[in-house]
Order: sequence, then structure tokens, then C-alpha cells
Amino acid sequence: MKVNTVKAVFFILLIGAGCIQTNAWTDAAINPFPTPVPDHIILNCTTNPANSMAVTWRTDTSVQEACAEIAVANASFNYIFYTETYPAKTELLKDGDYAAHYHSVIFEKLKPNTLYAYRVGTADTWSEWFQFRTAGDDTEPFTFLYLGDGQNAILSLWSRAIRAAYRAAPESRLIIHGGDIVANGDSYTEWSEWHTAAGWINGMTPIVPVPGNHEYYHGHGLDRYLTKFWFANFTLPENGIPSLRESNYYFDYQGVRFIILNGNEKIEEQAVWLKSVLKNNPNRWTIAAFHQTIYAATNNRDHKEIRVNWKPLFDKYDVDLVLMGHDHAYARGHNVDPKTKIKDPYTGPVYVVSVSGPKFYHANENRWMDRAGENTQLYQIIRIDNDTLHYQSFTVTNELYDEFQIRKSPGKPNIFLDKQDRAIPERTFQNSLSRPPDQP
Ligand SMILES: [Fe+2]
Ligand SMILES: [Fe+2]
Repeated sequence: MKVNTVKAVFFILLIGAGCIQTNAWTDAAINPFPTPVPDHIILNCTTNPANSMAVTWRTDTSVQEACAEIAVANASFNYIFYTETYPAKTELLKDGDYAAHYHSVIFEKLKPNTLYAYRVGTADTWSEWFQFRTAGDDTEPFTFLYLGDGQNAILSLWSRAIRAAYRAAPESRLIIHGGDIVANGDSYTEWSEWHTAAGWINGMTPIVPVPGNHEYYHGHGLDRYLTKFWFANFTLPENGIPSLRESNYYFDYQGVRFIILNGNEKIEEQAVWLKSVLKNNPNRWTIAAFHQTIYAATNNRDHKEIRVNWKPLFDKYDVDLVLMGHDHAYARGHNVDPKTKIKDPYTGPVYVVSVSGPKFYHANENRWMDRAGENTQLYQIIRIDNDTLHYQSFTVTNELYDEFQIRKSPGKPNIFLDKQDRAIPERTFQNSLSRPPDQP
């Protein structure tokens, strides 16, 4: 063998040693620990997104005091000389070998429909400048994104969903996450994966999180509680029922009332709150989001308590759209009688169940839904344009997967236009990419 050939064989052996194919589910590598440099920077809506905005970020515990600066953005960098400074509220989160300071600020007295620039940090350790736009104080058209359960292989594979969604609709003013954001709510590594996957998107677009069962401690009954990472990571409106602080809430955005419910506990108590929020609602559109479903997308996952307590209110008060997750499949349809299975496309909201991460279950054989999907990571782009709601669901490879419109006319039921014929054929486990036979 010639010397060059020997070298080539040796080189190939070296390369191969580091790249042996392992389980495809293997997570992307990450350093989950904080440093003095701000990271995990995230915007959240307040009760009044036209005039205020919340920001939360993380450092190591060497940073005792932090602050945020904000100014109306300008194409000249000279806006940085016109900033207002907000001291941060700082909270320690300690969990075994993990310790971090979580800092938060609520920017107040902002002008509606105005582009602001902000940064967070300390006098010698700043983040970059992020920009966001406040909500208008009128019913102006806007777009938002919805993502169902991310949950698994968050950095490795869910990152495809958030990045594809943002690239498809960068003008989105909100991003709703339908719960099971992570698989283990108490895992600082998984929260780090989530922040790393979304990166600066979280600092530019207000994030609207819904609590899933996986954000709860993995115990049962009374042992279950919403993870402390929820309260550390997010700064959310505190206008829900007091015992579910920051996990059920509502806010109005340019003519739409968004109602976030906690499907994990206190379902009846929330029904009383839900009724008051629906009764006193001056908005043209109403959208609810929660994790567990009114109608299951997969077999044997019935949430009767939620259906019995909340669905009559959705029907009575004309909720337009309900966004859900939990079932790791796609489903979209209208009301259906759970016993007779008779569909009723004329009353009540459109129900959507979706999944953005890579864990999939088989779709419900009862077929209450008019459109279903399996084995597919998805995201949704929803645009409210005066009297029309445009809904599109896309695969993370950017194929149109579902589409409909809801049209409003005062005093009349909504008109529903099914446009799924524009989409690709329904994906099932049988007709989409399956695992090689040697993979578990
Ligand atoms: Fe779930
Ligand atoms: Fe889930």
C-alpha cells in the first residue's frame, strides 16, 4: 500500500469514529448553565400590550442587580441616547447544581403601534438591542403563530418548527405555545434547549405560553405543581384566578381577546372566571388556547371535565377559535356530539389540535375532525383581517397542510370556508416516512 493510501484509510477511520450513527432521538448538545452575559431573553404580553411589555432574562448569580433600557427605535443609532432605564426585579432559582438569577422588567407607558428598541444587562455587560412593536389601540389586522407540543428533542428537532414558522411569517406579532413546551418542566437543560432553539425570536416577538401537563411536576394528584421554571422564565398577566397565577390569563390585542386556560387543574373554578371574561368582551374576535382537548385527536385521551365545563361557554359566547395540543397529532373540526358522533359545523368554535415537536401518536379513529394528520411536525399562521380570520397550517418543511377562513357578519353565525383542498394530501403513519425496521 502506498503511503498516501494508508493516510487516507487512517483519516476515514478517524472521521468515522466520531460519527457513528446513534439513536436518531439523541438530543443536540448544549451547555445549559448561565454566565454573567444575559441570555434566555424573552418578551411576554402584559394585560395591555398597546402600552406595556414584559421582558425576562437570565444570568448567573454573580449578577446581583440588572436593568433594561428602552427607547423608540430609530434608523440612526442615536436613539441609544434617549433611553429610559428600568431596574429589574431579580429572583434566584436554585436546583441542585444549577443556580441562576432571573431578571424581569415591565416597560410601561409605551405608545401604541410603535417600534421600540431595548436591551438588558448591567452597566458593563449588555445584551444586543432587540426591537418589538407595541399593539395598536384599534382593531388593526395582524398575524400570529401557533405551535402545539414541542416537548421532545427540543433543540435537535423542534428548532425546525419555530425557525420555519418565524421565517414563513416574520411579521407575526405574537407566538402562542400550546403547552408541553418541554418534556420535563423541572429540567434546566430542556428549558435551555427551548431558549436556544428560539434564540432571538423570543426577544423580538411576545411569547404567549400555555401550561401543559409536562410543565407540571411528574407526580400525581395533589403532588403535582407547576414547575418553578415557569415562573422564572415568563412574566405573564396576573388577571386569572389567583390560585393559578400566571397560568391562566387573558389580554386584548387589536380587536382580539386571547384567553389562556390551564387545562391541568381547577377546571370548574376557571369556568366561572372564563364566563366573566367572555361576558364582558368588547372585541370582535375571541380565541382560546389551552393544552388538553375538548375533542381528542387520538384514542383514549378524553377530557370530559374540560368539555363539560368550558365548551358550553365557548358555544354561548361565540368563541371563534380554540387552539389545543397534548395529543401529538393534528386535528381540525367543529362541534360533535361525543355520544352520537354527529357533527355540528354551524355552532361553536373551530377546534384545532396540533403538534410541533417530533413525538407522534395515531390520530383518532372516530374522525370527529374534518382534517387530521400523523407523523408530521407542524406550525400555524393565523391572520385576523377585519371580519376575516385566515388560518393556515404548514409542515416544518413548508408544505401547506390545512387552510380555512372564518368570516363574521354582525348578528349572524360565522361563515366557515374550508380550503383544505389547497393543501397536500393527508399524512398518516402509512403514507409518510417511517422508521427503518432496525430502529426501535
Ligand atoms: Fe400533554
Ligand atoms: Fe405532549
